[in-house]
Amino acid sequence: MKLKGLLLAGGTGSRLRPLTYTGAKQLIPVANRPILFYAVDAMVQAGIEDIGVITGETGEEIRAKLGTGEAFGCHFTYIPQAAPLGLAHAVKTARSYLGQDPFLMFLGDNLLRSGLKDLVDRFKTGQYAASILLTEVEDPRQFGVAVVDQGRVVQLVEKPAEPPSHWALVGAYCFSPDIHEIVEMLKPSKRGEYEITDAIQTLIDQHKVVDATFVQGWWKDTGRPQDVIEANRLMLEDIPTHILGHIDASSEIVGRVQLGRESQIQHSTIRGPVVIGDNVIIRDSYIGPYTAIGDGVTIEETELENTVILPESHISHVPERIDQSLIGRAAVVQGRSQRPRAVRLVLGDQSRVDL
Ligand code: G1P
Repeated sequence: MKLKGLLLAGGTGSRLRPLTYTGAKQLIPVANRPILFYAVDAMVQAGIEDIGVITGETGEEIRAKLGTGEAFGCHFTYIPQAAPLGLAHAVKTARSYLGQDPFLMFLGDNLLRSGLKDLVDRFKTGQYAASILLTEVEDPRQFGVAVVDQGRVVQLVEKPAEPPSHWALVGAYCFSPDIHEIVEMLKPSKRGEYEITDAIQTLIDQHKVVDATFVQGWWKDTGRPQDVIEANRLMLEDIPTHILGHIDASSEIVGRVQLGRESQIQHSTIRGPVVIGDNVIIRDSYIGPYTAIGDGVTIEETELENTVILPESHISHVPERIDQSLIGRAAVVQGRSQRPRAVRLVLGDQSRVDL
């Protein structure tokens, strides 16, 4: 059985503003690589060669980054979705691309440590109408929630106020073509979206078999800034050391660190795991664990850790340690040594500063 892929790269990314005013949420980097690239890798590693990419307002940027698929070992077909009306609506939009093939749908802002192969392999071996991926979460109210009985899914509810279990739906689903007829009949939910969770519940109501696979290792839905910082931390756990740039004799490197081409570390301490892109200058600074610094960034006389910095930003003379932060492209953060030492801000809409 050969599955097609459906990769969801639309949506508005409202919870990641202001970063998503200027770019797609799925292209925000963790460990200096767009989140979406990890999603493609996971699909390819699960044996998917043909991937339909659902795009929204940021379609052009997504297309420019992903290209034809050749670089990933697959082939992309871009499918614009007129409005972000939900996951079931995305399936409906891809109807002619998917044809009568079974398929794997994956949300482009989800990251999974152990990939998608187990889910896909299990789906291929059984006669399932759908197969979903579940993980136990503390507060399931913000997810789709499943009730499983003897390996079968018996009930699904989207974002329930009173969750019937702690099993949350991870954003990865395998479907037989049975799903198409159902999404055609679906009514929008309270939040005005066509929910895939409701479509799968309808399969169950029709006595079709919905199988569940459980996530091994971590899973992260990168919807909010703290999720991106956390995903970055998780990704950096696995990086090997790789030094291309230059480190001067008065700098100290501890632990696993990656340093890109033409980058320079001067009179600084870098404590890994840390990844630093190309053409970065770090001077008289401390870069602590779980930090990712994009290409072309300059950091001077500053301490930071657990932080994600997008390319071309400049950070200098910040009087306190920067921690747990997400800094967008070409941002400037600078301290002042002269008095008056007031805080001066030029912030984009929906920026957030915690002092
Ligand atoms: C969507 C699904 C939800 C699932 C979640 C996983 O939620 O509707 O069932 O648990 O993805 O990331 P949304 O991201 O649209 O809030």
